[in-house]
Amino acid sequence: MNKLLVIGAGGQLGSELTKALVNTHGSDAVIATDFQESVKSKFAYCRFKTLDVLDKDAISNLIQAEKITQIYHLAAILSANGEKNPVQAWDINMKGLLNVLDLAKEFKLDKVFWPSSIAVFGPNSPKTNTPQDAFKNPTTVYGISKLAGEHWCEYYYTTYGVDVRSLRFPGLIGYKSLPGGGTTDYAVDIYHKAINEEPFTCFLQEDTALPMMYMEDAVQATLQLMAAPSSDIQIRTSYNLSGMSFSPQEIAERIRSHYPEFSIQYAPDFRQKIADSWPSSINDDSARNDWGWKASFGLTEMTAEILTKLPSYIHNL
Ligand code: SER
Repeated sequence: MNKLLVIGAGGQLGSELTKALVNTHGSDAVIATDFQESVKSKFAYCRFKTLDVLDKDAISNLIQAEKITQIYHLAAILSANGEKNPVQAWDINMKGLLNVLDLAKEFKLDKVFWPSSIAVFGPNSPKTNTPQDAFKNPTTVYGISKLAGEHWCEYYYTTYGVDVRSLRFPGLIGYKSLPGGGTTDYAVDIYHKAINEEPFTCFLQEDTALPMMYMEDAVQATLQLMAAPSSDIQIRTSYNLSGMSFSPQEIAERIRSHYPEFSIQYAPDFRQKIADSWPSSINDDSARNDWGWKASFGLTEMTAEILTKLPSYIHNL
């Protein structure tokens, strides 16, 4: 029987991915963990334990006690927060991944999932339709840790046979969970302001286009990648993944077709420099060819769905 351990389950991706894993594998097969006890209330539908990804012994004990076969390791410090405390971000992002990879090797786990990011690219990478193998010179500690992590994943696969799989997520946008400390977070916050009929101040310039993805697509991509036969996974660093691409001005325009009075102003801060170093769109041909990936949501569909569902979702919390 599959037994899945989700590390960092209380975060933006984990909150939704854990639910999808329970729907796919059953609630007995999934253990949600997070270093914050306070997120426990999100997991009424499966077991929850507190776990610090830096505590290798605690992960090891849990793997043995629960006979874990797969790990979804989602805990990380994102781009903007990482710049505030680079060494701490490096420790959490790198040591956390190495703990997981090393235990996957030791206990011969079936599979590991680990998210990478568009942050692996940098100012000298091609800006549009950025290819899988494009030159990478990340400028944030988050991007550096993700790029190094990708190579550690490939190393554990080629050297020890650990079946680790990874996706370079664009900015993730959903209405059921909030991001924390990323450069793409504005594209979640903006919908909350819109439904409250409040003006929005954006920390990026109006024309800064970035690759983004609706959460439902991100969850689907993860399930699809993890269900694919190992022989289909040709890339063991991390797959480029594309959903949509838009600027703050474009998302505001789309919101105005639902809320005509919606107003936005721009006050770029230190995150502008991070955004400027990233691609504006991504080529995901390898994911499409190797395991049949295709995104379902564009900006129009996503905006319509979020603005329809977010009010009642918040009301029922
Ligand atoms: N959403 C992330 C960030 O902004 C990028 O992977 O940091």
